[in-house]
Amino acid sequence: MSTQDYIEDNKDRFLDELFELLRIPSISADSAYKADVRKTAEYVEQKLRDAGADKVCLEETSGNPIVYGEKMIDASKPTILVYGHYDVQPSVPDELWNTPPFEPTLIDGNIYARGACDDKGQFYMHLKAFEAMVASGDLHCNVKFMIEGEEEVGSTNLGPYVKANAEKLAADVVLISDTGMIANDIPSIDTGLRGLSYVEVEVTGPKIDLHSGTYGGAVANPINVLSSMIASLHDENRKITIPGFYDKVLEVSDEERSEMAKTPFDLEEYKKELDVDEVLGEAGFSTIERTGIRPTLDVNGIWGGYIGEGAKTVLPSKAFAKISMRLVPNQNSSEISDLFQKHFESIAPKSVRVKVSIHHGGEPALTPTDSKAYLAAARAMEKTFGKKPVPTRGGGSIPIVALFEEVLGLKTVLFGFGLDSDAIHSPNEKYGLFNFYRGIETIPYFYQYFAED
Ligand code: BES
Ligand code: MN
Ligand code: MN
Repeated sequence: MSTQDYIEDNKDRFLDELFELLRIPSISADSAYKADVRKTAEYVEQKLRDAGADKVCLEETSGNPIVYGEKMIDASKPTILVYGHYDVQPSVPDELWNTPPFEPTLIDGNIYARGACDDKGQFYMHLKAFEAMVASGDLHCNVKFMIEGEEEVGSTNLGPYVKANAEKLAADVVLISDTGMIANDIPSIDTGLRGLSYVEVEVTGPKIDLHSGTYGGAVANPINVLSSMIASLHDENRKITIPGFYDKVLEVSDEERSEMAKTPFDLEEYKKELDVDEVLGEAGFSTIERTGIRPTLDVNGIWGGYIGEGAKTVLPSKAFAKISMRLVPNQNSSEISDLFQKHFESIAPKSVRVKVSIHHGGEPALTPTDSKAYLAAARAMEKTFGKKPVPTRGGGSIPIVALFEEVLGLKTVLFGFGLDSDAIHSPNEKYGLFNFYRGIETIPYFYQYFAED
């Protein structure tokens, strides 16, 4: 039986298995789910073994286990390193979900569940495509699987694992489905990811919360101060004001920008989808450029003072914020975090004390469009979609991609089948059945074309 026939014959079971995977709440950010995270790893381990992989095991780390498995068929054939993550983002706020986040539900051809697109639905396509190729005796490449459980919390333990196992992980290319495409009828391939710097700030005024009548107007209010400090991080052109922030930003050539301008994009549709009247971003750049080739700074959360029911008159002692910066080539995450810290401390008035803590970060990455692997991926998509994919620059981050290049010397193909509207990290995350099955059908063609001379 051919690989494609095998896929067709086993479609329903593939979906059942994905549903079972989606039912386990593998939230890596919350230690209350530690046992579920492990259960998920064990489930993936079992499925990888069932699919026909050898040397399948859980690689223990000081955090969540990495699922490893491989199939080496012929030393003269190329080797693909498949990476994905079985951990998911927290589902909160749960009340905004129309269906329970860990009870996958099929509505109008979409699978609704946390992790449906990011990344369970996407990495599972690789296991099933592999199973089909093995079962049909039509596997053209060697393959190594590495599915981790800490991507959503910064892949802290994966870096050391990759460094310690560089030989074992040797391959010709890394293949990852953890990004999106423009639309189901406009296939695309991401050719870049942004990096990330993430900091938390604490602003302290008086040693305790004070009566805002007795002291208000005379003593610095840390929330007022933090708000104006944050506001000052952008100028009137929405440029970031941290000195040195743009120094290493790789400027994109006019030629490349006019290529980008041809990317199918409907601003009116975009605004409608998000329910905003106008977009806002760095002056002189289009929306696609603002998310693809320009760095940004966003407050992810801000808190302090009284937020309970009713009104309490209080001049708070402390204010906090979590702030992230998306980085582009050739910015460096620890350099940018340091620049932020220095600047933030320097703009604080003497009436408060500020503390900046630096969280995990990640480096930006670019992937080539002229490599054998990219061309094989483009050809595979053209085969199943009937259209050549458009190269695009993604706005999200997968920090391990830069590390694959640095440690293993490997370039990545971002073979993503999600959509922006899949609401990853948001309530009502979904993944289309179309996307799940199209991914499974497309992946074997990549193997076939990549193995051709
Ligand atoms: N799959 C995403 C990355 C992504 C999102 C790529 C959207 C392309 C489009 C990944 O799981 C993710 O969420 N990464 C985090 C970074 C990580 C260090 C927490 C991100 O981008 O915020
Ligand atoms: Mn992901
Ligand atoms: Mn994610």
